[in-house]
Amino acid sequence: MTTTSPSPAATADWVDPAAMLRDPHETYDRLRELGPVVWVPALNRYLATTFEACRAIEADQETYSASVTGSGATMARALGAQPMLRKDDPEHATERAPVNPAMRPKRIREAWVPLFRCNAETYLDALIERGPGDADLNRDYAAPLAAHNLVDMLGLRGASPEDMRRWSHAFIAGIGNLHDDPEIWARCDAAQHEVDGLLDELVPYYRRNPDGSMTSAWSNGGLSDAAVRANVKLTISGGMNEPQHMITNIVWALSRHPEQCERVLADPSTWSAVFDEAVRWLSPIGMYPRETTRAAVLQGVELPAGATLGVVVGAANRDPAVFERPHDFDIARPKQPHLGFGSGVHLCAGHWAARISIGEVAVPLLYDRLPGLCTDPNREEQWYGWVFRGLTTLPVTWAAS
Ligand code: HEM
Repeated sequence: MTTTSPSPAATADWVDPAAMLRDPHETYDRLRELGPVVWVPALNRYLATTFEACRAIEADQETYSASVTGSGATMARALGAQPMLRKDDPEHATERAPVNPAMRPKRIREAWVPLFRCNAETYLDALIERGPGDADLNRDYAAPLAAHNLVDMLGLRGASPEDMRRWSHAFIAGIGNLHDDPEIWARCDAAQHEVDGLLDELVPYYRRNPDGSMTSAWSNGGLSDAAVRANVKLTISGGMNEPQHMITNIVWALSRHPEQCERVLADPSTWSAVFDEAVRWLSPIGMYPRETTRAAVLQGVELPAGATLGVVVGAANRDPAVFERPHDFDIARPKQPHLGFGSGVHLCAGHWAARISIGEVAVPLLYDRLPGLCTDPNREEQWYGWVFRGLTTLPVTWAAS
């Protein structure tokens, strides 16, 4: 039997973060060829880019902790306390358990699908009002709809979709504020103040009148007041942009693959395959962080204790060792797991909510009401980001009746 001894991580000193913002996939492919985990000086971290390395990290939280320094500290500062996303079990599990029942498919269908449908109709009317020469699917539909659905799921009575958008952006900027920009903290603190004011009323209200919302679940879950507030704010920061991006990603993908678009319109049972293939192919969260608690060997590569790691699920989801023709969008590919929602104990709490609100309601409704829907070749679309990646502008057109 031959055994290979562990080797030091390869260094990728050529990585250009600006090029990754434009399109990260060429960089991901080159990194994966160098090894399952590679040191990237420009990002001051190791990046894990293969499917097996990303999965192995999530299967061993004793070695690869979610409680990271750097962005862990800014997250606690931005949200008022550390939320479950930056804790390991058992502390994480205590905060995750109360909300799990509210996020199961049956409960989502009973409690929220009528609201998802009503919200989608509202913003579809606004999109139609704009007309096929002027409509921007991101601005007119995906962004306000994702914000409104999240207000409803969280049960933030009295908040508007515009409040949600403002808070979400302020918290995300705060979490990323590693250079302590005082203006970013001022906006983030103002958002905290507004959300705390609302929760001063809502937490006691939900303790007296529990319902199916996420805020009610946490308020009645035996958590400290600070933990309830931090997890509501975590969800405000993490539950809006990704659903927004998935709505536009799916329409963008189907516009580039008209034969697959025809197939799903002829057989609506394939919408769930469209949703999962789009999350794999255009993962809205490209990377999230972990930190080693001790020296470790990951897929044959040595890592020191205290190493900052990027779990690059956007790259793992196009790993040719796991997915045939990984760069092709193919709704007929054999069903197999992807890592777009993460894996392990931090698997996205909202993955069913996203599947149902987007894959069963928001996107099918668009195609039902707008025959010939596709991206508008005469107006420019814009992509941005790699850690969080999505379309910031998506002009669309359709056959006007
Ligand atoms: C397509 C849409 C979505 C994608 C791609 C997505 C992706 C992810 C990923 C990759 C993680 C793990 C991050 C990490 O471990 O650092 C995560 C966690 C989480 N997501 Fe989502 N998400 C989506 C929608 C949502 C929605 C709609 C909600 C809320 C209603 C939500 C709430 C959460 C929460 C609370 C966590 C933390 C889970 C934990 O720490 O146990 N997500 N999401």
